[in-house]
Amino acid sequence: MIKTAGLCFRYAGGGRNALSDIDLEINDGDFFGIIGSSGAGKSTLTYALNGLVPHHFRGDFAGEVTVNGLDTRRSAPEALARHVGSVFQDIDSQMLASVVEDEILFGLENFAIPREEIERRVEDSLASTGISELRRRSVSSLSGGQKQKVAIAAIVALRPAIVVLDEPTGELDPQSSRRVFEILKDLNEDHGVTIVLVEQKIMLLCEFAKRLAVMGSGSLILSGPVKDVLSHAEELEEAGVNIPRVAALARRLEERGLYQGDVPLDIGRARIMIEGILCDASF
Ligand SMILES: Nc1ncnc2c1ncn2[C@@H]1O[C@H](COP(=O)(O)OP(=O)(O)O)[C@@H](O)[C@H]1O
Ligand SMILES: [Mg+2]
Repeated sequence: MIKTAGLCFRYAGGGRNALSDIDLEINDGDFFGIIGSSGAGKSTLTYALNGLVPHHFRGDFAGEVTVNGLDTRRSAPEALARHVGSVFQDIDSQMLASVVEDEILFGLENFAIPREEIERRVEDSLASTGISELRRRSVSSLSGGQKQKVAIAAIVALRPAIVVLDEPTGELDPQSSRRVFEILKDLNEDHGVTIVLVEQKIMLLCEFAKRLAVMGSGSLILSGPVKDVLSHAEELEEAGVNIPRVAALARRLEERGLYQGDVPLDIGRARIMIEGILCDASF
């Protein structure tokens, strides 16, 4: 479980707080999405969860962050890495090896995983991310989507309880983006891994996440179950977040007194909503 209480952080030399008074709880097994405009503090929040803030990025830190009961200020990032695996925004800077399997081996050897266990972990992590056939490929020959999967496989092999990913689909086409989300969903549902995901693709996020947080100017503007967050259209707009068009349509129908009910998140549900309205109307 992740808990932040009164978390504030200002980068050394930074003009304003990158994080202001963040109170957040992320439960075990959650699929937690974070959205917000550029500069809102999303990446900084992920650094606060894996200990890079305050251990790597220096600045003024206040409040408390605990990850599985460990206070991040008192635990080294290497110790926290056993609980939280991180996939960073800049994927190329994260890749250390030139061959895919070495990328996965590197972390396992760093964690001093026993030799006999290593082979099983490599095979399992490649299989669970659907890239067993890439095992001996050179990293530089991979597409963006394939590299993302390798980065996720290398983290999964370490079996952290929590995986934090910062805009993992930023460079990917819609199909590869969906595939990454599906891999995360399998990890979450089949292996109980807690997923914390910063993402701009709001439709995908709303489809896959269980809970959402919206950030703006370093603050947590909204957080809660996806449908509850989407019902706050004005705050979302102020935070520069475009809600899915089907959700916006539902809201307009609601304003006109034509609809009351759950916010539809996909075309199928929107269709049911509209059919319901047409049925009720006396044409
Ligand atoms: N290494 C850094 N040093 C100083 N300021 C930074 C650094 N990284 C980010 N910031 C500042 O912190 C704020 C939040 O940035 P960031 O967490 O990267 O936002 P986001 O990921 O939502 O785009 C921004 O004002 C940004 O300029
Ligand atoms: Mg960022």
